[in-house]
Amino acid sequence: MSDAPSDTPELTRRPEWTALADHRAEGQPHLRELFATDPGRAERYVVRAGDLHIDYSKHLITDETLALLQELATATGVFALRDAMFRGERINITEKRAVLHTALRAPRDAVVEVDGENVVPHVHAVLDKMAGFAERVRSGEWTGHTGRRIRNVVNIGIGGSDLGPAMAYEALRAYTARELTFRFVSNVDGADLHEAIRDLDPAETLFIVASKTFTTIETITNATSARSWLLKGLDSDEKAVAKHFVALSTNAEKVTGFGIDPDNMFEFWDWVGGRYSYDSAIGLSLMIAIGPDRFREMLDGFRIVDEHFRTAPAESNAPLLLGLLGLWYNNFFDAQSHAVLPYSHYLSKFTAYLQQLDMESNGKSVDREGRPVDWQTGPVVWGTPGTNGQHAYYQLIHQGTKLIPADFIGLARPVAELSDELGGQHDLLMANFFAQTQALAFGKTAEEVRAEGVPEEQVPHRTFRGNHPTTTILAAELTPSVLGQLIALYEHKVFVQGAVWNIDSFDQWGVELGKVLARRIEPALTMGADVPGLDPSTTALVAAYRNFRK
Ligand code: F6P
Repeated sequence: MSDAPSDTPELTRRPEWTALADHRAEGQPHLRELFATDPGRAERYVVRAGDLHIDYSKHLITDETLALLQELATATGVFALRDAMFRGERINITEKRAVLHTALRAPRDAVVEVDGENVVPHVHAVLDKMAGFAERVRSGEWTGHTGRRIRNVVNIGIGGSDLGPAMAYEALRAYTARELTFRFVSNVDGADLHEAIRDLDPAETLFIVASKTFTTIETITNATSARSWLLKGLDSDEKAVAKHFVALSTNAEKVTGFGIDPDNMFEFWDWVGGRYSYDSAIGLSLMIAIGPDRFREMLDGFRIVDEHFRTAPAESNAPLLLGLLGLWYNNFFDAQSHAVLPYSHYLSKFTAYLQQLDMESNGKSVDREGRPVDWQTGPVVWGTPGTNGQHAYYQLIHQGTKLIPADFIGLARPVAELSDELGGQHDLLMANFFAQTQALAFGKTAEEVRAEGVPEEQVPHRTFRGNHPTTTILAAELTPSVLGQLIALYEHKVFVQGAVWNIDSFDQWGVELGKVLARRIEPALTMGADVPGLDPSTTALVAAYRNFRK
């Protein structure tokens, strides 16, 4: 993004970078002091993106920090790259592709061009086809081969073709057709498929094979096994496949080759990255679960935050702020990880979804020009829903030696479906939510501990240093729109960080080597074949494995 031609990456030599390094070296006051000297920060450091109330007051920052971070964003061309993405330019440089997940939620009358062609009519044609199909399955009009209605939907996919629909199905369970059963199969470990179908009736089961490339070995293997299971249960009548298998893919040729009718294929395009795809045809299982109207509400939610990211001024642009705050700790405090801690049981798969979104996007070590970077890129993203984490790993966040910035996500209302009694538990859940960010920020001083009469030898153990940075994200309720808003918020946050780090956030070459080696090793496991070039350690392990199998 810099005009300066250079053989070495320039990010850490930029004056805006060194200004931040100097600022960091000056030392940041403790959060206790920051609030004591500037009580207004609680009101000032809040941003609204659509229905999301985002509080970033509990960060190790001052107005000066924010100004310096904004200067870095401007200098590294974040806004120019953002605009290029929305315009459909090929900003995925190593794959020479446009990056247009935002077009998946564009309104019908929008114009978004790739190579001079407006892609929005294609997006809506597929959405309409999905809606028609989803309604037919939901109403029972679409029947299986024997005429029985479909009661079970099994999505077979992996990575972006699994994590998104599986996460969103869980998140929006309260909105799903409860009379239908949904399962998500991803692992090539046969146990995954076995457990998903062992209690299902093939005559009532629809398989959705989700694969952008339709070449992913895990998915094709599971789909082939599912096909055998289906045919075995339906008198080996090949015609059954047409009523029980549909495909979600960009690769019509491979879909047809697998034996799925092209009419039963729901298309998407190479400008949709796998980890950015669950609002494309990849979301068909979710659409069947929640219905087309709710699915469109979710797309509207995505769009609200897209528009916010595209138009909000820098100082109140939520994805920009979250991206820069993450970068502050990642690059200037040596924080290695970032926790995402939703206080909603329905968001139990949210962080796992974000792991692919963030780590596959920004787990890179060369810049866009192919030069090794000399700065840290994407963090390790991890976390599970509170309050379970509180009774497991929060100890380390509170009193361990590592700095772990964390996002706390909470909802003001439980889902309407809960009984009065269960809904009444919500305030207790949220009391924990607020208590944790307070404890993390302000801790408990030795004086406070002593004042409680704690014996002196225990004081160090019971002191909390605090000063752990957190972002609090609050919304009224976990609706389809709010889920879309949350995902778009993180998509764009990841974008911002990748833009500043000058890396290609849209390729994923790092997953290729393992795939190639697995293909090479498999014959050694199944037939004992020699694998040329296998290292001595792996050769010995393969031998041990084969011994166990005897
Ligand atoms: O893990 C690599 C990857 O290519 C992901 O980016 C993608 O989401 C996943 O595999 C599945 O790919 P496909 O949808 O083509 O089966």
